[in-house]
Amino acid sequence: ANALMNVSFKVNGQTHQLALDTRTTLLDALREQLKLTGTKKGCDHGQCGACTVIVNGARINSCLTLAVMHERDTITTIEGLGTPDAMHPMQSAFVKHDGYQCGYCTPGQICSAVAVLDEIKQGIPSHVTANLMVKPAVTAAELRERMSGNICRCAAYSNIVDAISDVAGATT
Ligand code: FES
Ligand code: FES
Repeated sequence: ANALMNVSFKVNGQTHQLALDTRTTLLDALREQLKLTGTKKGCDHGQCGACTVIVNGARINSCLTLAVMHERDTITTIEGLGTPDAMHPMQSAFVKHDGYQCGYCTPGQICSAVAVLDEIKQGIPSHVTANLMVKPAVTAAELRERMSGNICRCAAYSNIVDAISDVAGATT
């Protein structure tokens, strides 16, 4: 038998207490225990970004972290960003710019994009900006670099960057 461990964290504003096999990834806890299936499993090895969620304000690949390591953390998934009737501005921008085809990568792309604009706002450098003395305007190249961990098999990349640029222009 495998040891169960109690963990309590907040997901999309709601506190959950779970007894989990210690080997359960955060991704599996979200999808299988909490039935939040908006977060997708692509590679399950940290290489595609489909499982991206926001934990305490920063984006992470939920397939690479154990759920029991998130005691008292605050987690936001795609379900917590907005609803079809009240979309998050990033969700609206993806719709407006056709930032998806099959949609499988989209929840991860959108969670990542929301966190990226936060990183930029906080002045966290990327490889593109690390060596610059002056804070540059947000460019498509910069956004592509920051979004490079989110793979899209349908190659909707240019529309994805258009969507994020649209929101970035409005907020930075
Ligand atoms: Fe987590 Fe691919 S499923 S990075
Ligand atoms: Fe199909 Fe990105 S829209 S994988």
